[in-house]
Amino acid sequence: MSTQARGLEALVDAQKHPASMTRVIAVTSGKGGVGKSTLSANIAYVLARKGFKVGIMDADIGLANLDVMFNVRAEKNILHVLKGEATFEEIVVPLDENLWLIPGESGDEILKFSDATIVSRFIDEAQMLENLDFLIIDTGAGIGDTIQMFLKAADDAIVVTVPDPAAITDAYAMVKVISKIKHDILMIVNQVKNAKEGQKIFDTIQKVASGNIGTHLELKLLGSVRSDAYVARSVKQRVLVCKELANIAPAADIETIAVQLGDKKEHKMLEGQKESGIGTFFKKLLGQF
Ligand SMILES: Nc1ncnc2c1ncn2[C@@H]1O[C@H](COP(=O)(O)OP(=O)(O)OP(=O)(O)O)[C@@H](O)[C@H]1O
Ligand SMILES: [Mg+2]
Repeated sequence: MSTQARGLEALVDAQKHPASMTRVIAVTSGKGGVGKSTLSANIAYVLARKGFKVGIMDADIGLANLDVMFNVRAEKNILHVLKGEATFEEIVVPLDENLWLIPGESGDEILKFSDATIVSRFIDEAQMLENLDFLIIDTGAGIGDTIQMFLKAADDAIVVTVPDPAAITDAYAMVKVISKIKHDILMIVNQVKNAKEGQKIFDTIQKVASGNIGTHLELKLLGSVRSDAYVARSVKQRVLVCKELANIAPAADIETIAVQLGDKKEHKMLEGQKESGIGTFFKKLLGQF
C-alpha cells in the first residue's frame, strides 16, 4: 500500500468523537504577505500534534503555497474534484500524523460551479473528510467576494495583521466587511516585537471598531506572534517552524494560539453548540443554501 493510501486510511477509518463536527476556520488578512500561510500551516501542525485530526486547504494561490511550505507536490486539487476529473481520495495529501492537505484552487474558479448535480456529488464525496476535527483554510488577502464567501461559510474567521500602518488600516477594513457576516472575529497580530506591541495594535483596532462598527461585534485577540528571521528562512528551506524550530519565540506563540483554538472547540462541544461540519460548509460555500 502506498504511503498516501495508508495516510488516507487513517482519515477515513478514524474513530469519530461522539459529538465532534469539523470546525472550519478561515484565515484571512487585509494586506497580503502578513503571514497567513505561515500561521495556517503551523497552527494546523500544532493542532494535529495535539491529537486533533486537521485538514488544511489553500483557497488562494499566493507566493508561498501550502504545498511548497509542506514540501509536497499536489498535482490535482479541489477544482478537479468539482469537474469530476478526480476524487477527493486522489487529491488529499497526507502530511503528517493527523494532518492532511486538501489542495485548493483560487476561490473564484471553485465558486463558478453552481450546477446542483455536480455540487451534490461533490458534497457526498466530501463526506470522507467528516472525521476531521478542524479544517483550516488559508484564504487570500483582501475584501473580494470570493474570500467573503469562504468567511461566510466558515465557523471562525481569523484576521491576520502585522504592525505596519498600511496593514493595520487594511485589517480594519477587513474587520468591517466581515462584521456584516459574522458576530465574532478573531485576530492575530504577527511579526511583533513583543506581546505588548500586539495588544496595543489590537486595542487600537478594537477602539475604532467599537466606535464605528457597533457593539454587536465581538472582536477578540487570539494572540500575537513575535518576529524572527528564522521564520522567513524556514519557508525558503521548506521547514515547518513549529516542527523543526520549536524552541524559537514565534513557535511558542503559535503553540499558545493553537491551544486556545483546541480549547475553544472542546468548550463548544461541551455547550452542545453545533459546528457546521464539512457537508454544511461546502453547501454554504457553493451556494446551495
Ligand atoms: N513571525 C514571523 N517572523 C518573521 N517572518 C515571518 C513571520 N511570519 C511570517 N513571516 C514571513 O513573512 C513572509 C510572508 O508570510 P506568508 O507567505 O505566510 O504570508 P501570506 O499572508 O500567506 O502571504 P500571501 O498574501 O502572499 O499569501 C514569509 O517570508 C514568511 O516567512
Ligand atoms: Mg499565503
